[in-house]
Amino acid sequence: MESLSPLSRPGRAVGHTVIDLDWIDSTNTECLRRGADGAPGGLVVMAKGQTAGRGRRGRSFQSLEGKGLYLSALLRPERAFSEVAQLTAWTAVAVCRAVEGLTGLSPAIKWPNDVLLDGKKLCGILTEAGETDSAGTVKTLVVGIGVNLGQSEEDFGPELAGIATSLSQHLPKAPAREEMADALLEELDRLWRVFPAAKGEYLAAYRARCATLGRAVRILRPDGEWEGQAVGLGEDFSLRVRFADGQEEDLTAGEVSVRGLLGYQ
Ligand code: BTN
Repeated sequence: MESLSPLSRPGRAVGHTVIDLDWIDSTNTECLRRGADGAPGGLVVMAKGQTAGRGRRGRSFQSLEGKGLYLSALLRPERAFSEVAQLTAWTAVAVCRAVEGLTGLSPAIKWPNDVLLDGKKLCGILTEAGETDSAGTVKTLVVGIGVNLGQSEEDFGPELAGIATSLSQHLPKAPAREEMADALLEELDRLWRVFPAAKGEYLAAYRARCATLGRAVRILRPDGEWEGQAVGLGEDFSLRVRFADGQEEDLTAGEVSVRGLLGYQ
């Protein structure tokens, strides 16, 4: 029998039911499975470790046991894909607020949705749609969040050296994963209650924290690589990039990958 985590709060729209597992392949995959089996929106699945943690663009996400928070929320948006696509950016704001509220540290956002501390990745977010109907309405959506809490440089290993960081590298003592989860669930609950009405507020918060704006970036697309300057953020959280020939383009997260030209951010 799996037990209900004490982090469950009946009044929460997100996190009324929190399942905390020891090991799972991926909390996103588990949420998608449960969603397909009819689990209610607002269910949250956490795990102490993931054997197949997934990142964006088919990458894996390092998920060492007990070192990070690996958490996914099942949502039932009943909204068009174009609308729910913005949820990842909203979630980045929610993560920043949760980290700041708990630790006093002030994270930044690398467009589209990495949360950074001192220019290194503290948290990744992977949003995945499950069932979508023929009209394009998203029935099930999973927002997955991985926050690095206790990893040392050695834990990250050569692949993530200089790229990833954890809260323990910035604080005398990192918060426990339950504490981080509770702070995050408070923010996710609020986010889901005010989505999409509070877009102006989340957009302003995102802009204020976005480390990509004003920087030189390299754009990676299936048809090649280009360098430009990130000059603005659109109403839909798209990134406006000015290229060397003066042309500007609004890039959406699904289309391109952006690399800073100075280090990871
Ligand atoms: C990225 O950085 O590319 C996104 C990483 C998302 C990782 C989280 S950990 C919890 C959830 N389960 C997964 O398999 N992925 C997300």
